[in-house]
Amino acid sequence: MQAMGRERSVFACTECGAQQPRWLGRCPECGSWSTLVEEATGRPSLGSAPRRSLYPPSSSPVMAKARSLREIEASSALRLATGVPELDRVLGGGIVPGSVVLLAGEPGIGKSTLALQLAAGVGGSGGVLYVTGEESPEQLRLRADRLPEVPKEVAVIAETRVEALAEVWREQNPVVVLVDSIQTLSTDRVESAPGSVAQVRECAALLAATAKADATALVLIGHVTKEGVLAGPRVLEHLVDVVLSLEGDRTHAFRLLRATKNRFGSTREVGVFTMTDAGLEGVANPSELFLSERRTGAPGSCIAPMVEGSRPMLVEIQALVAPAGYGTARRTSLGFDDGRLALLLAVLDRRGGVDLVGRDVYVNVAGGVRVTETSGDLPVALALASSLLDVSVPADVAACGEIGLGGEVRRIGRVDLRIREAARLGFRRVLVPAGTDVALPAEAEVIEVDHVGTAVEWLRSAG
Ligand code: TYD
Ligand code: MG
Repeated sequence: MQAMGRERSVFACTECGAQQPRWLGRCPECGSWSTLVEEATGRPSLGSAPRRSLYPPSSSPVMAKARSLREIEASSALRLATGVPELDRVLGGGIVPGSVVLLAGEPGIGKSTLALQLAAGVGGSGGVLYVTGEESPEQLRLRADRLPEVPKEVAVIAETRVEALAEVWREQNPVVVLVDSIQTLSTDRVESAPGSVAQVRECAALLAATAKADATALVLIGHVTKEGVLAGPRVLEHLVDVVLSLEGDRTHAFRLLRATKNRFGSTREVGVFTMTDAGLEGVANPSELFLSERRTGAPGSCIAPMVEGSRPMLVEIQALVAPAGYGTARRTSLGFDDGRLALLLAVLDRRGGVDLVGRDVYVNVAGGVRVTETSGDLPVALALASSLLDVSVPADVAACGEIGLGGEVRRIGRVDLRIREAARLGFRRVLVPAGTDVALPAEAEVIEVDHVGTAVEWLRSAG
């Protein structure tokens, strides 16, 4: 890949961006395997003159001067509503002028759609520049036609050279610039191909500097692939102010927007959307969405009150235990960690008196949701036991609790929030870890369980 004689090449990690002088099987910085790729830096080696700045400051400062902290005006109140309430919620009340937001997600998850909705929403407050490197402007227009409102104040440009973009940016003076995607951009200052760590980092740094100088909000879209072929957004994390990730299962309509970093707000808030024919639609009551297709009375199902950010949401956990065919038993889970499932099966078997050895086990979280909290242990265990025993969990029951290796049910956080949400949707009885201290709403009842065996016994008698 070495281009010219004076070029120096380095090996950059596609996960964390750390650079090494030679190839290594494992990145010494982040510990990822086989993530180092060779890159020509394009940086002249020692002894060459420093380059001119790409963006000369518009008002040339006479002298750098430090100010006292008290003199500096807090501009935190300055936020631009994006017109997408769920997005505003995650951003902390809107997008901050001069800030850089990275919107990351797998291909096809809805990043361009969300970006276009943001563009349409901000449109009223001033110009928006949409840089499209992936789709043609015509394709973008077709996409926009599906949205409830076709934004008028959005200028579209299919340009991938950062130097050319800077020109347009200066001319248009937009309030928001959207780059779709950062992996398609390139700058003349770096020799390597678009999408490489060096290009992604350099382009982002150049654009971020312009955004800060112009007080323009900059949104960079970045693809994440499991293979890490393209430079992962971790390369940019330190460079941007906000990292948003759009998650979900492409075969389902449900999408979750999280902030993994936010210099202007909390990272606890999540945005909930469904992908509809007219773009991403905010979901005010996620529990209702997830429970809409639920069939009550069938064995192998248990309702789990989860908490995402500060929002409670009830999800249905389904399990199916079936006699295994020949060979080893199959264990398949969708939306629940495989390792965690293996642990629960072993605990149920050894401590819960539920004989699962040699049986096929399937676990599914309805609606394409991922359960990442350990509070999902108890409902998963109950769903498994319910399927094996062919006893259904009563229709007005939900369960939450972590299960330890000894079979003990451990306490979890924010039980009040979970019980209140359960009660709101008609689940009057909630199984909780023993010793949980809660202020109960009048219509709810808690059933304390200290051990997975107790929970299974309760199911046998209640079902
Ligand atoms: P897209 O925003 O292109 O994803 P990304 O930019 O993250 O790659 O959207 C992906 C999918 O969303 C695509 O398969 C089409 C679908 N979609 C809808 O269902 N409704 C819509 O209104 C739009 C615009 C897209
Ligand atoms: Mg896209």
